[in-house]
Amino acid sequence: MQAVADALTALEKIRKERPDLVLAEVELPPLTGYELCQSIKQDPSLRVIPFLLVANSYFDTEAKVKGLGTGADDLLYRPVHPVELRARVRSSLRLKAYVQQIIEDRSRFEELVAERTRDIEQLTFGLVAALERANSMNDSDTGLHIRRVSEYSRILGHGLSMEPTIINHIARYASLHDVGKVGLPDSILKKEGALTGVEMTEMRSHTLLGHDLLKEARADEMACRIALSHHERFDGNGYPHGMAGYQIPIEARIVALADAFDAMTTRRCYKSARPVRQAIDEVMAESGKHFDPGVVRVFMERNAEFRKAFDKYGQD
Ligand SMILES: [Fe+2]
Ligand SMILES: [Fe+2]
Repeated sequence: MQAVADALTALEKIRKERPDLVLAEVELPPLTGYELCQSIKQDPSLRVIPFLLVANSYFDTEAKVKGLGTGADDLLYRPVHPVELRARVRSSLRLKAYVQQIIEDRSRFEELVAERTRDIEQLTFGLVAALERANSMNDSDTGLHIRRVSEYSRILGHGLSMEPTIINHIARYASLHDVGKVGLPDSILKKEGALTGVEMTEMRSHTLLGHDLLKEARADEMACRIALSHHERFDGNGYPHGMAGYQIPIEARIVALADAFDAMTTRRCYKSARPVRQAIDEVMAESGKHFDPGVVRVFMERNAEFRKAFDKYGQD
């Protein structure tokens, strides 16, 4: 045990030597015991050191209020009996050991959670990439369609001031919107010209197929919602469930516009590409019909970014 006569030396020593416990008087020129206590308790690296304050008398109410207010762990009153002092010191040290154990357990636990989260993220990215590839091999669209839809969805998410983590999820899972097409035959996917009624029904089932596939793989709920609802329309005339307005999850309303805009501006086996200017007018005209007007507004504000993404990933 070391004794020092003034608060500043005490503070310096405490910072340097990190004692097991501090026992301080109320008067410690040039500071007070309260101020010393406050400095220690405000420092996260020293906070755990038990601070025992010795008040001048049991009737010193100011010492009780101020001492506990500044974070002292215990109060002692003059005259301090050595047996009581020992007992209080022991109890404070016991408490400190518990607290330290909890802190250590917590940081170990946090490390473990962070490590597992990283593993899962990596696995998810790997699976998304694999599905993306499988998807692009089976669809008449190439991988670039998926990339553009993902990029457009990111731009819209930003424009809607969504949380960065949510935006990342939407952008990542947007790439899986048509994953259900892996279950459709090439005769439908690569057919040149219009589909028959039966073929159209089968084509539309890619939403349900994609949803079930992702659900079974226990993918993120958001990925399932995007796969299921990206062909719903704001006016309720979409598929597979004919949901309307805000019943349609926001991520699906975003991907719906991103997907449709990309379909308009790129060539498919059954149609040629439209000029970007014309596609923009078409999206505007569909505000409140095919698309959520709020998402269309953001699309209009962020037109330049759409063009940039379009140029970046180019034509298929
Ligand atoms: Fe689709
Ligand atoms: Fe698509």
